[in-house]
Amino acid sequence: MTETELVQALCDSAEVPEGGVLAVERPGLPTLLVCNVDGTFHVVDDLCSHGASSLAEGRLIGCEIECALHKGRFDVTTGRATRRPSKKPITSYDCVVRDGHVFLVNSSEGETA
Ligand code: FES
Repeated sequence: MTETELVQALCDSAEVPEGGVLAVERPGLPTLLVCNVDGTFHVVDDLCSHGASSLAEGRLIGCEIECALHKGRFDVTTGRATRRPSKKPITSYDCVVRDGHVFLVNSSEGETA
């Protein structure tokens, strides 16, 4: 049985078109990046693990976000670094779309959007 707890509304899903990203600031959380990969939403930290660069300034290529500063890449579905100079992963978060809003969730079995 999946227990999903909606933690925080991040944005309207319509604010992030397919292939787009949106940086979201919410009290008590790091700046998060909402990514729309072919209609599926993923949430990761906005800050590149290689340096102090917002990934929102980069571009989404398939399921990878490319950092604008040194072109390192991260898989937004897992947070894994996929291209140097980025080596360390970024944090990925479970999310779900409900009633047109993207929510951050605590999910025991990953009912993610
Ligand atoms: S700051 Fe992002 S790859 Fe260097």
